[in-house]
Amino acid sequence: MLYQQPLPAPYPTLNDDELKARIVHAKNELGSRVVILTHHYQRPEIVEIGDMRGDSLKLAQFAAAQEKAQYIVYCGVHFMAESADILKRGNQVVVLPDMGAGCDMADMADADDVELAWDELVSILGHHSIMPVTYINSTAALKAFVGKKGGVVCTSSNAEKIVHWALQQRKAVFFFPDQHLGRNTCKRLGYTPESMVLWKPGIPLGGQSPERIRDSRVFLWEGHCPVHAMFTLKQIRALRAQDPQFKIITHPECPMEVVDESDAVGSTEYIVNTIAASSPGSKWAVGTEMNLVNRIAKENPDKTIVSLNRYMCLCGTMNRIDLQHLAWAMDSIVAGRPENVIRVAEPLRSLARSALDRMLSMS
Ligand code: 13P
Ligand code: SF4
Repeated sequence: MLYQQPLPAPYPTLNDDELKARIVHAKNELGSRVVILTHHYQRPEIVEIGDMRGDSLKLAQFAAAQEKAQYIVYCGVHFMAESADILKRGNQVVVLPDMGAGCDMADMADADDVELAWDELVSILGHHSIMPVTYINSTAALKAFVGKKGGVVCTSSNAEKIVHWALQQRKAVFFFPDQHLGRNTCKRLGYTPESMVLWKPGIPLGGQSPERIRDSRVFLWEGHCPVHAMFTLKQIRALRAQDPQFKIITHPECPMEVVDESDAVGSTEYIVNTIAASSPGSKWAVGTEMNLVNRIAKENPDKTIVSLNRYMCLCGTMNRIDLQHLAWAMDSIVAGRPENVIRVAEPLRSLARSALDRMLSMS
């Protein structure tokens, strides 16, 4: 996680109304020169004041399509702002209001560790036999590594299509950093969990034998999302025993046994749209981050919406973006000295772009 400097006066002492007034004033000053993107996991007051909300794919596509906006203020986490910077046009500027807004899962796959693992795998399987696929929840350095090797990025909305493509191009796929999304996706494509190899970083050959590696087509990096790891099969069974009318809808970052038992599985955008389209009176238990579950409940008053885990928490890093940081970031743009600019340097930028472009052309 990166360091965020403490905010200067007066931001820490302003109340919410004063902060909102500042943000609205800055939006009016900047007009079409600024766009505020908000991920579905953002706080309600941030989503309300933003211009666009969505999942990682929708926001990446939206960022790439911006022609007018000179400033893209990304209310999400670091890898999302990096992706927007990689996809931006000309001299657009991407701002992340709080540098401490990282992603624990993305931090689990360090590009140098991946490179070491790759060399080990290649020494057994040979060159050009493995396709690297990275979830968009990864650093720009890892996306660049994947791009250099002819690989591709995916999101939770298109993982199945992308991994299917990858396995048509080469004999095996190496999927980073989320073992659960990788496993759930490959299972839907017909691979058994036993046939997939879990690669443990830092252990020779990822803890596998050369024979096992030679026999496998799917290699999963041992990373996960600590937020989605909090959903269990036991919770689903308890809820169904209590009220069988509940339908379970979960994000594919959840463990396989949770996804297997769910009635519906998909990205944050899919979860929002599926519940919105369901009939009045429906009951849903949702397996994803809590800011989003609360918003869905508010926007669907004719339905019963609960978290699958009643002790569920927020994504702490997503939640770091608050009105204080957004007001500070917006004011800095108006003043002509934008703070927290995200810049991915060359050659990483071009290499990562090739992996992202490959995804966008298939989405
Ligand atoms: P989505 O692309 O589904 O919004 O997922 C992003 C994420 O970080 C989920 O934890
Ligand atoms: Fe990362 Fe998990 Fe937070 Fe999504 S919910 S941003 S994967 S830590």
